[in-house]
Amino acid sequence: MKIVLLLSVYFSLLVFVSCYGGNGYDPLENALKIQRSKRLASTQVSTKDLTTEDSYSPVYVGRQDGLKDFDKISALPGQPAGTDFDQYSGYVTVDPNHGKALFYYFTGSPANSSTNPLVLWLNGGPGCSSFGNGAMMELGPFRVNADSVTLSRNKYAWNNVANVLFLESPAGVGFSYSNTSSDYITDDVQTAKDSYTFLINWLERFPEYKSRDFYITGESYAGHYVPQLAQLILQNNKITNQTVINLKGIALGNAYVDDETENTGMYDYFWTHAIISDEIHEGIISNCNFTEAGTITDACNNYQSQAFDAKSNIYFYDIYAPLCSQFSNSTPSISEFDPCTENYIAAYLNTPAVQQALHAKPVQWESCNHFIGENWQNMPFSVLPVIKDLMVSGISVWIYSGDTDGRVPVTTTKYSIDKLQTVVKTPWYPWMYDGEVGGYVEEYQNLTFVTIRGAGHFVPSSIRPRVQPIHESSSQPVYRPQMYSQSQPGYETSPPQPGYRPQMYPQSPPFYYNQQPLPQLPTNFDAFDTQYTQLPTTQMPTFDPYEPG
Ligand SMILES: *[C@@H]1O[C@H](CO)[C@@H](O)[C@H](O)[C@H]1NC(C)=O
Ligand SMILES: *[C@@H]1O[C@H](CO)[C@@H](O)[C@H](O)[C@H]1NC(C)=O
Ligand SMILES: *[C@@H]1O[C@H](CO)[C@@H](O)[C@H](O)[C@H]1NC(C)=O
Ligand SMILES: *[C@@H]1O[C@H](CO)[C@@H](O)[C@H](O)[C@H]1NC(C)=O
Ligand SMILES: *[C@@H]1O[C@H](CO)[C@@H](O)[C@H](O)[C@H]1NC(C)=O
Repeated sequence: MKIVLLLSVYFSLLVFVSCYGGNGYDPLENALKIQRSKRLASTQVSTKDLTTEDSYSPVYVGRQDGLKDFDKISALPGQPAGTDFDQYSGYVTVDPNHGKALFYYFTGSPANSSTNPLVLWLNGGPGCSSFGNGAMMELGPFRVNADSVTLSRNKYAWNNVANVLFLESPAGVGFSYSNTSSDYITDDVQTAKDSYTFLINWLERFPEYKSRDFYITGESYAGHYVPQLAQLILQNNKITNQTVINLKGIALGNAYVDDETENTGMYDYFWTHAIISDEIHEGIISNCNFTEAGTITDACNNYQSQAFDAKSNIYFYDIYAPLCSQFSNSTPSISEFDPCTENYIAAYLNTPAVQQALHAKPVQWESCNHFIGENWQNMPFSVLPVIKDLMVSGISVWIYSGDTDGRVPVTTTKYSIDKLQTVVKTPWYPWMYDGEVGGYVEEYQNLTFVTIRGAGHFVPSSIRPRVQPIHESSSQPVYRPQMYSQSQPGYETSPPQPGYRPQMYPQSPPFYYNQQPLPQLPTNFDAFDTQYTQLPTTQMPTFDPYEPG
């Protein structure tokens, strides 16, 4: 059992463009708004999940001979010298009749590639690129420098410990495409099926990975993709006469898994992080019913709009991070996540020589495809039932959360886990990085919850120590955080309380809400200032951080 924790470099801020999650550009919110209005317009609530499929027919498998060699990347333009791992990228046809092909980027490990597990990474959106966002901004081996021409090595890349496969999914995202444009109007079920067909074909192209331990990881809207694909794999594994995929576990980061908790957790997070006023929060609590059967009233919508207005122009995906702006040319103060990174990546990936080196079709590459997200069909209200199935199946299930994300915040994740009603196995304890608390862990039955302190939505790109999935021996579960050394004072974990089940959701309002009127601020500020400045320093309260209270 081990965990690898990572620090990151930062880039200086140069240009202004709205970025993924930056001002005015929020792919998940756009998609959710449309889904929620559709849900209001129809009495039919769709929670179709993939288990309803009872028959199996073999998936399309194309000829793969020679394609692996063709896909080998000799070098990416601008890559640093001394690149000591294999890179491949190219297309896998998943539907020859439609001309539908998914693009992947694969990075082997520099060491132990032949024994390290295979990890699939998926970004969300829906409609956002796993290559541009996942590989180039988060966990891949390279970062695009601010010149948009050269790359630098990400020393905390996940391929240090796993062979990592980035899939641009569904067709229409990033470099993936279909010759049948109606394929761009798609949904969760089709996305899972195509990803499955992709994997079966990719494993024919790279047969050495056929029986390798396999993990599926992803973030945000991949909170739908990852469990659904895992469920489809487990289901097909039982009946297929094609490749049985050796699925060992999944990990979901800041994941959208349930629409009710997405709403309740987000507004509670806004309120407890001083982003919205008490009045707006109370307005939401008393006017909104975010359950699947609940009706969203005009009053509720009005308070939600007020919340978004009140939030104003902050980097919603990492609430303390600086914005990408031409005016902010100084060192970022709190977080070193650079929200301009997206711009460097877009420029780099739209360079013809880069597209050629990647064996990509020449296209205008985009970080997220708005059309896909806005035309998404059939988004289940919750995938918690799917996650529940996976927990029972025996694979390892990890849910992690960067705790400065406002988009799918840690409160949302905690409420979702409450709704799963699993019991605590090992109570809350800190995990440590370099002598500091990196975050916290709570181990539930069949589920591990991990926070990453100070990380935003894009956990693998944030400054704070980061978690990456590691496997040590195939008989051990992966993604196991190390226990903090019990010998160090102050951090003893409390004795396990088997059977404890959190009760905070949905029986009681998520947080205590003080109904008392707020104390009035002094209206005469001159008097206030005088009063304040006249306080003799000897009477200033002394602050002892070690004193309880
Ligand atoms: C899509 O159409 C182009 C042009 O006809 C063709 O070259 C390509 O192979 C097709 N893609 C797939 C996946 O069949
Ligand atoms: C490779 O595997 C060996 C044997 O398990 C291990 O000692 C070594 O640390 C690994 N190297 C890396 C870079 O993970
Ligand atoms: C798998 O089963 C299908 C029929 O369901 C058959 O057509 C196909 O040839 C089989 N494939 C293999 C590899 O045995
Ligand atoms: C939300 O609405 C549903 C369906 O009308 C209802 O059953 C439930 O009690 C409501 N919840 C609250 C907290 O009002
Ligand atoms: C955990 O997994 C076991 C074995 O698969 C199952 O019996 C149990 O119900 C699961 N518990 C939860 C809370 O998912």
